[in-house]
Amino acid sequence: VQDITRRREAEEEQHVLRRQLAHVSRVATVGELTAALAHEINQPLAAILANAQAARHIIAGEEPDLAELQAILDDIINDDKRAREVIRRVRSMLRKDGSKPEKVDINRIIQDAVKLVEHESDFKGISVVMDLADGLKPVMGDRIQVGQVVVNLLVNAVEAVGEVSDPSRSIIVGSRMEDERGVVVSVRDTGKGIGEESLQHLFEPFYTTKESGLGLGLSISRSIIEAHGGRLSALRNPDRGATFCFTLPAAEEADTI
Ligand SMILES: Nc1ncnc2c1ncn2[C@@H]1O[C@H](COP(=O)(O)OP(=O)(O)OP(=O)(O)O)[C@@H](O)[C@H]1O
Ligand SMILES: [Mg+2]
Repeated sequence: VQDITRRREAEEEQHVLRRQLAHVSRVATVGELTAALAHEINQPLAAILANAQAARHIIAGEEPDLAELQAILDDIINDDKRAREVIRRVRSMLRKDGSKPEKVDINRIIQDAVKLVEHESDFKGISVVMDLADGLKPVMGDRIQVGQVVVNLLVNAVEAVGEVSDPSRSIIVGSRMEDERGVVVSVRDTGKGIGEESLQHLFEPFYTTKESGLGLGLSISRSIIEAHGGRLSALRNPDRGATFCFTLPAAEEADTI
């Protein structure tokens, strides 16, 4: 009984650690987004400043046009709301328990993720092909977290393929229904493949074979998928390279997104 209790405690501890890691990594992603967000907030701020200066100009005149002032104030309020909305989005990403399950279109998430890594894959001369099923059911989940998993798998695939020199280097990312109740996403590459020894440790936090790797991508990805009630696994392809697959349960009464 004591053994079981200890194991449970250890499992719980690991669970907490993974959640913290997922949070850290989400914060890091936000860090990378900061430049883009600063740009987005800068725009309404500049508009507010221009409008406020115009209003001061009007008030200083002989007969201030009140209708004009009214319109300027409306503009200022709208621009302020825009800036606040940007900040709200960032804050909900930073919150520790910020996940809000919603119906998520997996194909859309894959398309967005591919766009994010395309620059890198193009640069390395690797083609990323999408093989997405029609009529896929949505899944319940946090689109940012699930998107993060697809990006992690794609980045790993690009890195693995980048290490081999072969003209037919490619990555295929696919989606399909498993049965009526589950959606499967697979990322198949023709990269350097996974050694027998590596296969045992891939999903452990801080396991890495890369000089500049943290070894967190797969462990965070697995904890995200498991928190969504799914599974993430790795396979060695019969010819060459590796395939990573995850399943997610389809949303109930899920015909619309
Ligand atoms: N597609 C793949 N092909 C071959 N090996 C892979 C593949 N994906 C992951 N691996 C192996 O699993 C290890 C762990 O991957 P993981 O994504 O967790 O960490 P990482 O990529 O090394 O670092 P990072 O924290 O930046 O993601 C990698 O170092 C690599 O050895
Ligand atoms: Mg990685």
